[in-house]
Amino acid sequence: MKAVRIHEHGELDTLRYEDCPEPTLTGPRDAIVKLQAASINRRDIGNRRGTTGSAAALPHILGADGAGVVAEVGRDVNNVKPGDRVCLYPLSGCGRCEFCATDREFLCGERRVLGEHENGTYARYVRAPARNCFAIPSGLTFAEAAALPSVYLTVWRMLMTNAELKPGEHVLIVGVGGGIGSAALQLAVHCGARVIAASGSNEKLARAKELGAEQGINYQSPGFTEETRRFTGKRGVDVVVNSAGGDGWVRSLAALARGGRLVTCGATAGSQPRTDVRRIFWNNLKIFGSTLGSRQEFAQVIHVMENTGAKPILDRIFPLRDATAAQRRLEEGKQFGKIVLEMDG
Ligand SMILES: NC(=O)c1ccc[n+]([C@@H]2O[C@H](COP(=O)([O-])OP(=O)(O)OC[C@H]3O[C@@H](n4cnc5c(N)ncnc54)[C@H](OP(=O)(O)O)[C@@H]3O)[C@@H](O)[C@H]2O)c1
Ligand SMILES: [Zn+2]
Repeated sequence: MKAVRIHEHGELDTLRYEDCPEPTLTGPRDAIVKLQAASINRRDIGNRRGTTGSAAALPHILGADGAGVVAEVGRDVNNVKPGDRVCLYPLSGCGRCEFCATDREFLCGERRVLGEHENGTYARYVRAPARNCFAIPSGLTFAEAAALPSVYLTVWRMLMTNAELKPGEHVLIVGVGGGIGSAALQLAVHCGARVIAASGSNEKLARAKELGAEQGINYQSPGFTEETRRFTGKRGVDVVVNSAGGDGWVRSLAALARGGRLVTCGATAGSQPRTDVRRIFWNNLKIFGSTLGSRQEFAQVIHVMENTGAKPILDRIFPLRDATAAQRRLEEGKQFGKIVLEMDG
């Protein structure tokens, strides 16, 4: 089959579109999925560079997110059958620890994520536990379904489970053009929240307003905190979605109303921002970390897409063989929404 693999860690030139063996069933509860599309995540860049700590054997196929058609299933599988259109929950745990026992495999110390610890989705076929196969919401293309898993799952957990976002609340979304940011915009607007979008690009702010943001602000603006406070009558926002970390972290905390919640899942711009701890306790702030989410939360995401007819926000679709150009677009921060790879035929 055709796949995009790395034979060594490094920059974009390590991505190779090449022939490699198809995966085979290794257990009675596995499935083989013939992929039609995969989507790109920031994490793929870290896995390519070898900075995520993954010890996957090389050569290795990247990609956590995929959608396609079930091709083959193990003898104990009864939740899916060949021919089913599915998208993939991206991880599995040890099945024995306290986290696995309570549908929190994303916290399992032995968790295995597609494209990180297992061969991933930048390929024609992938092997996954059959229980990770979820029916694609009707009306979604394979490309749209491939955009769903990692970011919509993560954002759902951040906004709905952790922040418990309510209609009418003000949400500041930092980095609205990214996969996480654009999914947060969509789900927050859907929930009836009032969104302030922050981006490094004025064009992306205009796009965010088309998609329902009430206000837009460039996070490089020196008056960032004052502006966000002005938008809320000086009160501050109820929730901040910040997956960037870096210098903007301090300004994100400063933008919160007393009792406000900040949800984070990433540190694209830096992992060790300076924080004045007093601001957190004086103002009774709550900070929630998130990493992906549970199968139940993934089912909720799919349910919402199914029932509302909402579709993930796609930036651009590239053929699989152009994975280098697709990852370059992400590295250069040009995207608004999810960048997708499509397989031939
Ligand atoms: N923990 C998890 O489960 C999980 C899951 C998914 C993602 N993540 C993490 O979340 C982060 C975002 O992922 P992604 O897939 O959305 O990546 P992405 O598509 O590359 O988006 C990153 C966005 O961050 C914004 N940004 C960049 N530099 C910034 C800065 N200095 N200050 C503020 N914002 C800045 C940009 O927004 P604009 O383009 O609008 O300027 C950019 O589009 C990554 O660190 C990723 O590893 C974690
Ligand atoms: Zn476990």
